[in-house]
Amino acid sequence: MDAMARASSHPKDSRLPYVFLNVATSADGKLAPANRNFVPFSSGRDQELLMTLRTEADAVMSGAGTVRGKIDLGTGGAKYQKLRIKKGLAEYNLRVVATGSGSLRPDAYIFQQTFSPVLVLTTSLVSKTYLRAIEKVAGGIHISKGSKINFTEALLWLSGTWNIRRLLCEGGGEINGALFDENLVDDIYLTVAPVIFGGRTAPTLADGEGVSRVADSIKLKLRRLRRIEGELFLKYSVIRK
Ligand SMILES: NC(=O)c1ccc[n+]([C@@H]2O[C@H](COP(=O)([O-])OP(=O)(O)OC[C@H]3O[C@@H](n4cnc5c(N)ncnc54)[C@H](OP(=O)(O)O)[C@@H]3O)[C@@H](O)[C@H]2O)c1
Repeated sequence: MDAMARASSHPKDSRLPYVFLNVATSADGKLAPANRNFVPFSSGRDQELLMTLRTEADAVMSGAGTVRGKIDLGTGGAKYQKLRIKKGLAEYNLRVVATGSGSLRPDAYIFQQTFSPVLVLTTSLVSKTYLRAIEKVAGGIHISKGSKINFTEALLWLSGTWNIRRLLCEGGGEINGALFDENLVDDIYLTVAPVIFGGRTAPTLADGEGVSRVADSIKLKLRRLRRIEGELFLKYSVIRK
């Protein structure tokens, strides 16, 4: 049985945060073109959705592959900070990055933006030198044993130590796939933009191991579907047994 199927046959631990994904894909399901460069390709309305969803999260998380560029996972400005306070959340969201091998450099842009702590999820693969360097810029570090991040343990640390109840994951494909493998995703906000990227190496909504049999797939319930001009705005919930 595949990892996804194994995980989805168990209910989620109630101490874990509510996890929602926000993803924009091309009509052929890609997160970016084949060169994997970050390119905003969805509408202004979708960018607004991205910022609004951040106002509903204690923390926003991404994988190292996503935050290598000029990305800070921040609030998006005073208007959204006011909204956060109105919704009973802290003015600034916490930020979480996953870097299993330590490929995310301590001088990355996200660490230079100091409005809220950046929490780092990593593994025992990283060197002591790297850890010493990252300790200087990170608000906290969780180290999984072995070569893969154990997201269940890491998310229990995020909820237990950092009081994160609502965690928004903004991709990319590898981290999304890992969260599905461990049955950690509750809802998916998916925007489908009317473009085709193609490319067999382009990232998709959920990469990683995946399943071999349709029977082992993660099952979803469609909660909402809106078409605005050429774009589709969908909300799915993960069905658990
Ligand atoms: N359209 C959208 O909504 C959207 C959103 C986000 C990203 N993107 C695009 O997606 C692409 C990036 O996606 P990606 O899949 O390459 O990268 P990613 O998921 O952002 O990050 C992958 C990295 O995260 C770490 N990681 C994730 N899961 C792990 C696990 N289980 N154990 C250990 N480490 C883990 C690893 O870091 P180390 O390499 O350091 O070990 C891995 O290489 C970019 O092209 C970006 O522009 C698009």
